[in-house]
Amino acid sequence: MEALSSIIYTRNLVDEGNGRFNLMVLCWGEGHGSAIHDHANAHCVMKILQGELCETRYAWPKKRNDETKEPEELQELERNTIGLNEICYINDSLGLHRVENPSTANPAISLHLYSPPFSSCSVFNKQTGQRTSCKVTFWSKYGEKRNREIQDARCPEDN
Ligand SMILES: [Fe+2]
Repeated sequence: MEALSSIIYTRNLVDEGNGRFNLMVLCWGEGHGSAIHDHANAHCVMKILQGELCETRYAWPKKRNDETKEPEELQELERNTIGLNEICYINDSLGLHRVENPSTANPAISLHLYSPPFSSCSVFNKQTGQRTSCKVTFWSKYGEKRNREIQDARCPEDN
């Protein structure tokens, strides 16, 4: 399983919609998934082009007034399997989510539309609810591979 966990999903920018949206294709290796993340006040529509993906939705961490700031695990809301050609929508009012390819045998490919486009979002630690800002990176833009430095600039949890 060690080899599988080193497979990184790739984000490939297809179109920037004159600054109005980002359209991208994500390729998911077997068993690979995203961190739990928000969507920076944007709309997000995702369609499965190959294979299937599993989406787990979480509630936002509770706002805390006390000083203790005890870590609190994120509350899971629902799990959905998104099959071939199916579409899923999320925005911040619907919570957070993690997306993963549940297959140990087949890769998955998904098409994502984000509007308005955003350059950073937040990722969350499931156990503590801790939030970390994360810059959005692309493996390729318009079919051209980006340089290695950009590809490696990943958040610690974006694994
Ligand atoms: Fe997402």
